[in-house]
Amino acid sequence: MNGLDQARKFVSKSKRAVVLTGAGISAESGIPTFRDAMAGLWSEFRPEELASPEGFRKNPPKVWQWYAWRREKVLAVEPNPGHLAIAAWQERIEKLTVVTQNVDGLHQKAGSSPVLELHGALNQIKCSQHQVPQSWPDPVPDSPPKCSICNEMMRPNVVWFGEMLPQDQFEQAQVETAHADLVLVIGTSGLVYPAASLPHIALQQGITIIEVNPEQTGLSEHASCFLQGPAASVLPQLLQ
Ligand code: OAD
Repeated sequence: MNGLDQARKFVSKSKRAVVLTGAGISAESGIPTFRDAMAGLWSEFRPEELASPEGFRKNPPKVWQWYAWRREKVLAVEPNPGHLAIAAWQERIEKLTVVTQNVDGLHQKAGSSPVLELHGALNQIKCSQHQVPQSWPDPVPDSPPKCSICNEMMRPNVVWFGEMLPQDQFEQAQVETAHADLVLVIGTSGLVYPAASLPHIALQQGITIIEVNPEQTGLSEHASCFLQGPAASVLPQLLQ
């Protein structure tokens, strides 16, 4: 039996699964992964200038405009067959929880629900002070607007370097992972904690892990099945 056949058996037996995704699942929708983007999108900037509370305080309009631009790009792309295969799977399984490190909203656009967004959502803003997410203003101004309640600056609803993950989402992700009978880990380098700790919960509890990634990661040799390849072609074969 090859790896794909074995993995399909695990999928067909599963009743309660967690899918953990990273930037790799959106690569074939045209959004570069973080490691690739270091050579592209982010290379002209230092990440701490654009993705940290300090960078935002130093130059609010620059950070605001950069996220407004990224949001425009992401709103224009579509989910790929990988996102769609995950969304279709939820119709055939008792419980499926998608946990993503991506801020692009493509799982929701594909129809997945619930989606736990560990690193926030590019399509929302929030008050720097009291954190309640809301929509971007239309039209988007050149500088961040002020919160109507406390007059603090509004900012993108994404997790920046040095910030905590949304605690409720992360706790729910931990609970769902610990109670799953199958965990799929797709398109993540597993280098960024605490999100990268979720597969370790599954490993400690002896839960079956299927990993999908064109490259080996630190998890690959520990996974029950490592399916080497791009998510948009492997996932439709795995989850059909
Ligand atoms: P990375 O950029 O670290 O890793 C992307 C992973 O996707 C790599 O392991 C690639 O081999 C894999 N990959 C590339 N193309 C793929 C494809 N077509 N199908 C499947 N996999 C593919 O992205 P993340 O692991 O998501 O955090 O990075 C995690 C966090 O690092 C991000 O959420 C971000 C960044 O710092 C914050 O912004 C807080």
